[in-house]
Amino acid sequence: MRVPLLDLKAQYASIKAEIDQAVQEVFQSQHFILGPKVAECEAAIARYSNCAFAVGVSSGTDALLAALMAEGIGPGDEVITTPFTFFATAGSIARLGAKPVFVDIDPATYNLAAAQIAAKVTPNTRAILPVHLYGQMAEMGPIMEIARQHRLVVIEDAAQAIGAEDNGRRAGSIGLYGCFSFFPSKNLGGAGDGGMVVTHDAARAERIACLRVHGSKDKYYHKWIGGNFRLHALQAAVITVKLRSLDKWTQARQNNARRYEALFRKSGLRLVTSREYRGGECGNCVGLPVVETGRHIFNQFVIRAPRRNELKAWLKEAGIDTEIYYPLPLHLQECFRYLGHRRGDFPESERAAEETLALPVYPELTDAQAGHVVSSIAKFLNG
Ligand SMILES: Cc1ncc(COP(=O)(O)O)c(C=O)c1O
Repeated sequence: MRVPLLDLKAQYASIKAEIDQAVQEVFQSQHFILGPKVAECEAAIARYSNCAFAVGVSSGTDALLAALMAEGIGPGDEVITTPFTFFATAGSIARLGAKPVFVDIDPATYNLAAAQIAAKVTPNTRAILPVHLYGQMAEMGPIMEIARQHRLVVIEDAAQAIGAEDNGRRAGSIGLYGCFSFFPSKNLGGAGDGGMVVTHDAARAERIACLRVHGSKDKYYHKWIGGNFRLHALQAAVITVKLRSLDKWTQARQNNARRYEALFRKSGLRLVTSREYRGGECGNCVGLPVVETGRHIFNQFVIRAPRRNELKAWLKEAGIDTEIYYPLPLHLQECFRYLGHRRGDFPESERAAEETLALPVYPELTDAQAGHVVSSIAKFLNG
């Protein structure tokens, strides 16, 4: 049996008529740059994330870059973030000449360990950039409190977490900015690259809107140095259609997560939580995800397992695609060697990079497929 990591063809088949119609409308209008489709998408995402404003941009990466640029963050500034994330989080900070300052993760949620942030604040710290990894929000209460005490900007990297909630508050709506990605593998994925910045602040929304067109409000007059960060009208049209199904798909992902837990419980495997997991020490046990905040949208369902690389290869043989998000934490990446970190600096991030494996959790996953995933893991671990 084949179990892909994601089945976008099945998703497209379920909404084909609406998508095709929306794409046709863009072609008929020949309005490809900004315009009504982008404005409609922005209004819908602002509503969905409980923010007053949303500005469509070309990717999640450019959403982060534009938010940092809007705050004038650059050389001499420090931005606190996690080393256990997709490269773009810290890459955007470094591209502007600022310094990414890493804080280790909480082993239960894989998100920034909020209690360790204050010790990293210096007079040069300008911002905190928490990531809501795998679809679960970081501890925004404590993070906002540290930001308030030290007068820091908070930019939420909500690329993997659209619709996630922390104490009833939506991802992207708590910090000064929230940044979304519409990369196709996200819960709300476009037909290519796309992103969005959300905020409650009118002046900041306007600045982002200027920055995405080379810093100009009036054409050919440039107040800031920005870039070409525009969301394409075709992407906006696709995303607006898909947003109507997002809650249904999120629910299906949450149901899949519950189903995995039930199957694991019946599998005869030893189970612990990702917080308790101690590698080989607990024998052949599996570390299951911990849900600590209100609404985990399960962009990924990530387990910890012994002999992780062998397990991945075994599952591939059984027709099951899995992924490692992420195999090398950012502090150990070649391009960040200049930061002077070494192995051992962020032990929880390093351990997560060695132990974690993302299983298929996409909405269309069937009972039989999920059963095949868990029984194949059990077969591998029980020998
Ligand atoms: C946590 C995180 N931040 C930023 C990004 C960047 O988004 P994009 O690929 O749309 O540039 C991604 C997505 O790939 C991500 O997962």
